Formats: sequence, C-alpha cells, structure tokens
Amino acid sequence: MRTTVGIIGAGPAGLLLARLLHNAGIGSVVLESRDRAYVERRQRAGILEQGTVDVLRAAGAGARMDREGLPHEGIELRFDRRRHRVDFPALTAGRSVMVYAQTEVCKDLIALQTEQGGPLLFEAEALAVEDADGDRPRVRFRHEGREDVLECDYVAGCDGFWGVSRSAVPADRSQIFERTYPFGWLGVLADVPPSHDELVYARHERGFALLSMRSTSVSRLYLQVPDGTDAGDWRDEEIWAELERRFETADGWRLERGPITQKSVTPMRSFVHEPMRHGRLFLAGDAAHIVPPTGAKGLNLAVGDVVTLARALAHERRTGSADLLDAYSETCLRRVWQAERFSYDMTTLLHRHPDATPFEDRLQLARLARITTSRAAETDLAEAYTGFRLD
Ligand code: FAD
Ligand code: DHB
Repeated sequence: MRTTVGIIGAGPAGLLLARLLHNAGIGSVVLESRDRAYVERRQRAGILEQGTVDVLRAAGAGARMDREGLPHEGIELRFDRRRHRVDFPALTAGRSVMVYAQTEVCKDLIALQTEQGGPLLFEAEALAVEDADGDRPRVRFRHEGREDVLECDYVAGCDGFWGVSRSAVPADRSQIFERTYPFGWLGVLADVPPSHDELVYARHERGFALLSMRSTSVSRLYLQVPDGTDAGDWRDEEIWAELERRFETADGWRLERGPITQKSVTPMRSFVHEPMRHGRLFLAGDAAHIVPPTGAKGLNLAVGDVVTLARALAHERRTGSADLLDAYSETCLRRVWQAERFSYDMTTLLHRHPDATPFEDRLQLARLARITTSRAAETDLAEAYTGFRLD
C-alpha cells in the first residue's frame, strides 16, 4: 500500500489531519488499532476552544456541532463555599468556548472521512515506523490477521500517549520533560440535567471537583481521587455525597442527582517530547505531549498541531519549500508549553496535594482571591482558557 501521508491513529488529531489534507488535495491513509464503535464511544474531552470551533467549521465538520453544541461564555470558580463567575467575552474581546464532546467530534470526522476521504482502516495496528529519517518512511501494521506495509512520503504519528510512533525517534535525539501527580480524576456520566448552566471548578479541602456536561440532559462530573484509585471502589451513592460536599455553597445551591451510566479514573500527567519531528515523521497530539485535564487543553492542542502540520504540507506541495515543515516542531512547542503552563497552574490552583502544608493551603486561597479581585489576573485565566491563537 502506498500514500502521501500515512496517519497512525484515528483520535481527534489523526481524523482532523486526514480531513484537512483531503481539503488540500493531499492523499492519506489512516490506520487505527481499535474498532469504530470503541473510538466513537471513548469518553474524554468536552470543551472546544474558540480556535478549535473555527477550524472544525472551516474544515466542513462543524454543522452538527453548531446545531447541538452548547456555546459557553464563562465558568464558575468555587472555593470557601463562595462562587465567582469568569466572563470570557468581557475579558477577551468576545472569545468563548463550546461544549461538544470529543466522541461527537470523532463521529462527525469519521463520517466525513468514510464518505469523502481516503482509506480509514479500523483494527489496523501500527507495529513500527521504519526509516523515519530516510526518503521513503514505512509503517508496518497488522490488519485482518495479516502484516502489511504502508509506504509514505510522510508519517504523522497521531497515536496518542501509548502509541508506537514516538519510539521511532532515537533516544539520543529526544528529550522528555515530565511530571506526575499523586491524584487522578474519577469521572462519571449521569443522566440528569446539569445543575448549573456553566462549568463549575471547585476547590475544596477534601479535593477538587468539576461539574461539566455533555448536553442539556447529561451531566459530566469529576472528583479528585488518590492516585491508583479503582472506579469500582466508589458506589454511586458515595460519589454523589462527595460531589455534594465539594460543591456546597453558602447560598444553598443544590446538586441534582440521576442515574450514573459510566465511571472511570483518569491519571494525571504533564509530558512533553522534544522535538516533535524526526526526519519525515511528525508527532501530533497526545503522542507528543500530555497535559493534566484541568483547563481542558489536550484535544485543543492536538487540533493546533495538525492545523500546523496540514498547513506545512500544503505549503510544501504548493511551493516546493520545506520551510514550514522544518519549523513544525518549534512552532508547535511554543503553543504546547503555554498550555503546559496553564494546565499545571490550574491543576495546582484547584487540587488538594496530599502533602500540602497549611502555608500552601493559604497560598492556594490567595491565588484564587487574586483571580477574583484583579481584572488582570482574571483576564490571564480567560485568555488561556478560551485559547491562544494559532500562529
Ligand atoms: P487519542 O485521542 O489518544 O487518539 C489516538 C488514537 O490512536 C486512538 O484512537 C488509539 O486507539 C490509536 N492508536 C494507538 N496506538 C495505535 C497503533 N499502534 N496503531 C494504530 N492506532 C493506534 N482535552 C480537551 O481539550 N478538553 C477537555 O475537556 C478534555 N477533557 C479530558 C477529560 C479526560 C477524562 C481525558 C482522559 C482527557 C481529556 N482531554 C481533554 C484530553 C483529550 O482527550 C486528548 O488530549 C485527545 O484525545 C488527544 O487526541 P489524539 O488524537 O492526540 O490522541
Ligand atoms: C471537561 C474536562 C476538562 O478537563 C475540563 O477542564 C472541563 C470539562 C469535560 O470532560 O467535560
């Protein structure tokens, strides 16, 4: 099999890249190790930055998002049983975000790809990227019980944190920057209308809690839990009771309960692999970097990477110049490190570290107080949350 761009992974990064390349008249083949139903069901991100919304619309993948997504113009910060709203458009000259689940973005992109785009092979597991720094890189993969080879001009490693493409970069050419956290998120989906019309980020002595949503009838809720927690250890009743404690306010706000339909635990990690390119292999999305989820940057970063890559490939096709491809890693890493910084700040602002001292607790409250009393500090949060512009 032969193609221009071999794309490993049909998460948001791989699927959107395939769509952008298709629109630019560049051929691609997408290899995805899981089956379609799994990819379309995997619960993950829920918040799209303004820039991501604009990119999906421009790529012709925004119709259902515009019908069914929920535009959000702010979030609530909750601490000390008090509530503070951050008004995005007022602080950012009109920017906002959209609540539209990653599962739905993937469904829309898969539908477009299967109707109009190049081959998208499910249950096709990439085994290795070979000759990444030669003229003819290859992806060895297994599909329908047979091993096969995809010959490419370029390979896009969009296979997430656990994929194979990153390992094609020789150890002496790569640098890894990493931090783990001693807690994770227990996430639940519940068939109950969200108890607030905007997201609520709560800092509490017992740990962080987040109220989000997937639609006007489905809530998405998260609780900070110790590292290594098994979701099965939490009974539904215990989850609701803990959420109620952490969201409690002095003004009597109430959390509505409903049937929990899914629960899982997500570990937290900050991770950056530099560089994001090796020869003709380009890493994009979680394959190159991970942020802790607080602040909802992961999917949006993946989108930024593939927009940069698609532009660079189209530029090379049009002009014969590899300038933008050569600049890919540096261009992306500038944005990636801003998101790493913001996600780290939001995580340490809102989570209870098990070893936190009373001094650090007070500092956390002082940081929150600063955001709620200084327009400059609040603007900094609003700008980062709604997203940095793509270069
Ligand atoms: P992935 O979505 O991981 O996709 C990689 C794909 O590659 C997968 O389909 C995988 O099956 C496939 N693959 C792996 N190995 C191989 C192989 N060898 N061969 C072929 N295919 C392979 N981000 C946000 O922006 N906003 C949020 O609100 C947000 N909330 C989150 C909440 C949770 C609980 C979690 C876990 C994450 C959240 N994120 C959020 C992060 C976001 O989900 C990820 O950053 C995003 O999925 C990255 O997309 P990706 O395409 O790079 O990787
Ligand atoms: C969601 C996830 C996040 O990490 C976040 O900051 C906000 C919302 C969500 O899954 O809805």
